[in-house]
Amino acid sequence: MKLSSLVGLVAAVGTATAQSTPNAVVRDADTGLTFTSNFQLYKADGRGITFRVAIPESAESYTSYDVVVQAIVPNDVGWAGLSWGGSMPRVPLLLAWRGSSNNVILSGRLANGYIAPQPSNIAQYTLIPAGTKSNATHWQYTALCRGCSAWVQTNGAYRYLSPRGGNRLAFAYSPNRPFDVNNPSSSIPIHEVHGYWSHDFAAARNRDFESIVARLTS
Ligand code: HEM
Ligand SMILES: *[C@@H]1O[C@H](CO)[C@@H](O)[C@H](O)[C@H]1NC(C)=O
Repeated sequence: MKLSSLVGLVAAVGTATAQSTPNAVVRDADTGLTFTSNFQLYKADGRGITFRVAIPESAESYTSYDVVVQAIVPNDVGWAGLSWGGSMPRVPLLLAWRGSSNNVILSGRLANGYIAPQPSNIAQYTLIPAGTKSNATHWQYTALCRGCSAWVQTNGAYRYLSPRGGNRLAFAYSPNRPFDVNNPSSSIPIHEVHGYWSHDFAAARNRDFESIVARLTS
């Protein structure tokens, strides 16, 4: 069995808890933002990465709007990737891993095919310290993204994520860390697992998004 087909096992292995409810709505005390949350298995024993999204109430369809992304990652993960376009090539990818002093390294990337993604500013990320931390079992990052909800495709057309429904996102997981662990432009080993889900953006809308984000990033 391919590891990439583990997602369906979450109930079967008996670890289904509140954290694995699809599109759970989570009010995050650290940031004051409300996120929709999805848990993605990468090991059959129940280990997984939680990906969360918060957007502005004012976000309109077919426009570019800011997104706050939060991920909660077990310490055995070498790198965790998130694809805003729900596949690997030619869409904004966010790579994250732990640096040598338990700090989080974020790296926006773009892949021209099924080949190693290169550093890219197709989307820009600002780490939010209030939602970025680690402990004995997990590390977590929270970041503001500009360019994650809309981007220009190679054919010149725009691609938009809907603020009023589900968007297909994808993740990739490697147990191995990037080669130059403190360098955001480091080359990385290939993933062992990837998966997809439909992430609900409608319930991720926050009325006070702009003022909260301004406070969190000032
Ligand atoms: C050294 C870095 C990487 C290499 C060499 C690589 C290579 C590949 C290859 C060869 C495949 C096809 C596998 C198959 O068909 O079974 C694939 C699929 C995939 N990769 Fe990567 N990858 C890398 C990094 C990433 C990153 C950072 C992400 C971020 C999310 C990612 C997301 C995906 C996804 C979602 C798929 C499934 C196919 C698709 O939906 O496009 N990859 N990758
Ligand atoms: C460790 O950190 C993660 C991520 O912030 C959190 O979800 C988890 O509850 C924490 N565990 C403990 C024991 O505090």
